[in-house]
Amino acid sequence: ALNERTRLVWFETPTNPWLKLVDVAMVADTVGHVPAARGERPLVVVDNTFASPALQRPIHLGADVSFHSSTKYLAGHSDTVSGVAATNRGDVAERLRFLQNAMGAVPGPFDCFLALRGLRTLALRMDRHAANGTAIASMLSARDDVELVRYPGLAEGRHAHPQAALADRQMRLPGGMVSFIPSAGGRSHRSAAERARAISEATRIFALAESLGGVESLIEVPAVMTHASVAGSPLEVPDSLVRLSCGIEAADDLLADLGQALDRA
Ligand SMILES: Cc1ncc(COP(=O)(O)O)c(C=O)c1O
Repeated sequence: ALNERTRLVWFETPTNPWLKLVDVAMVADTVGHVPAARGERPLVVVDNTFASPALQRPIHLGADVSFHSSTKYLAGHSDTVSGVAATNRGDVAERLRFLQNAMGAVPGPFDCFLALRGLRTLALRMDRHAANGTAIASMLSARDDVELVRYPGLAEGRHAHPQAALADRQMRLPGGMVSFIPSAGGRSHRSAAERARAISEATRIFALAESLGGVESLIEVPAVMTHASVAGSPLEVPDSLVRLSCGIEAADDLLADLGQALDRA
């Protein structure tokens, strides 16, 4: 799809909710060889929300702009809606500043305060989110009532992530987001979609809610929640898929909570 008319290449990695990875350095290198539109090669823009700058540095990998929903990990406490764009390109920064000034797309001072305060603990929180994500993904992988686990840190076994080597290369740690599909069956002989719903309603510590990246763990069923609007499109996700945002609670509490929900569903 890249040609001389391409102005922008925009992607997220890991993706929401499948946690697929895009090789940022490879894309940046490929885009660097595209014939320039109006004398400029396309801008490479990475949505770095799922990894955060503590785990992944797209600009160091060759991207022009790295942006975040700071609603998520950057602020980290589910108490602001805001966004951040970072660039090492002076011309892009100047253009964004002009547009913000002209159109008024600026965050409020209190949202900035919350994001800046969140940043102070970002590195610590991301270490814990990733440790909990790893523990949860391993627990899910070991269960025979789970059909599929997707987590960039799973390098081996039945549920190994197909891009685990890339995750290892491009991310400092695999992050706190885990997706899985339960098997059909369970105690009440439910379909996989029924079990997904039952699991998400049976957790006590994982709150049933959208959004992600906060200190508290969240669970959701993307097909009927965050991704309901893409039903019927190529981006549609199965109604049996469950997405977890692993918070910073004690790992044992999270494992016990999700374990009992799976047992009951
Ligand atoms: C990867 C990603 N990018 C951007 C956004 C948009 O963020 P906001 O809710 O701050 O508008 C989201 C929100 O779900 C997201 O998951």
